[in-house]
Amino acid sequence: MKTLLRRLALLVGITLLAIIGFLLFVQVRGIPRYPPPLLKVAIPLTPAWVALGEKLTLSICADCHLNRKTNKYSGHRLADLTPDFGRIYTSNITQDQQHGIGRWTTGQLVALLRTGIGPDGRLRLIMPNYARMSDEDVASIVAFLRSASPQVQPDPTPTPPQKPSLLLKLLGNTIMRPARLPAAPVLAPPPTEARAFGRYLVIGRYHCFECHSKDFKSNNPYEPEKSKGYLGGGTPLLNNESQTVVSRNITGDVATGIGGWSEAQFGRAVRFGLSPNGPLHYPMNKYSLLTDEEVHALFAYLQAVPKIKNATPEDGGAVVQ
Ligand code: HEC
Ligand code: HEC
Repeated sequence: MKTLLRRLALLVGITLLAIIGFLLFVQVRGIPRYPPPLLKVAIPLTPAWVALGEKLTLSICADCHLNRKTNKYSGHRLADLTPDFGRIYTSNITQDQQHGIGRWTTGQLVALLRTGIGPDGRLRLIMPNYARMSDEDVASIVAFLRSASPQVQPDPTPTPPQKPSLLLKLLGNTIMRPARLPAAPVLAPPPTEARAFGRYLVIGRYHCFECHSKDFKSNNPYEPEKSKGYLGGGTPLLNNESQTVVSRNITGDVATGIGGWSEAQFGRAVRFGLSPNGPLHYPMNKYSLLTDEEVHALFAYLQAVPKIKNATPEDGGAVVQ
């Protein structure tokens, strides 16, 4: 009996040491590096692409990268990130040679947007990756970043060093991986195919499904429809004051989703944050630049996805922390 206990104690001790050893390794190693994808791409700065890129950057990247005081994409602290992940700053993505992305090649920018891997090989963990965005949308964002727009002209604001927590380092060394480069050209369906185009907007362009499904942890970036509670809401998010704001059910369920809404009501909610349930708060964006075509396509698609019955707080549902 005594030897058995001793062996057990030894086993527990060895396991504890192994865990501590691994945590120490992770703490010292930090966020891992990967071979940076070498892409050779040329993106012409056509006025049409720069204009589309300006709109997409404002709708998708601005909340994280735009300094609202100077109206430049010079980055800031990511205030709505859970403190469990540490202190993270969004980068200066103006054309500054030293503090921005002035020296990055077009291929390096595309690689980062697609996979999350920077030219130095470091995985930009908190920066979302746009693996399912169409080649044209990616190209237009890059064209805008390289354009003569005042918002991206060199700004000498340095990006402070990232301070990822041990937890974020642990995730970066285990489950958080770079996304794969698309194996084939990525094309968006034409806007005339409203539902197919709407699906593209939800999963490829604006990533609505990421916030509006059950939980970030169970989202499936490769097959988004397989994410738990796809578009049924319930993800607890943080606003800039670190208060919880729960995402809402945007499937066609009449009682708990948007099944009873008209397209006009939906348009007012997504463009101006005026939902039939009252004003919407950050981190729900005001997608004020959405075209009528986009609103129509989003609405057609959301009404057609499998309905989920899930009462979120505005329907009287409990806040799940
Ligand atoms: C949820 C917030 C968020 C959104 C949305 C976001 N980013 Fe980022 N981005 C970050 C953070 C945080 C970093 C820094 C990550 C790091 O260094 O680990 C970053 C880094 C970058 C970098 C790398 C810069 C460098 O010097 O390392 C580029 C380029 C970039 N983002 C461009 C974009 C563009 C373009 C968009 C929109 C299509 C976008 N980001 C959307 C948070 C965001
Ligand atoms: C960064 C996370 C995030 C993204 C991305 C996002 N949303 Fe939201 N959305 C929210 C949150 C959080 C709320 C609830 C806000 C509140 O409670 O004030 C919300 C609310 C809504 C509502 C109101 C629903 C109701 O019942 O009142 C609609 C409609 C909506 N979002 C549609 C969209 C669409 C369409 C997209 C993509 C184009 C999108 N959202 C992208 C977080 C997000």
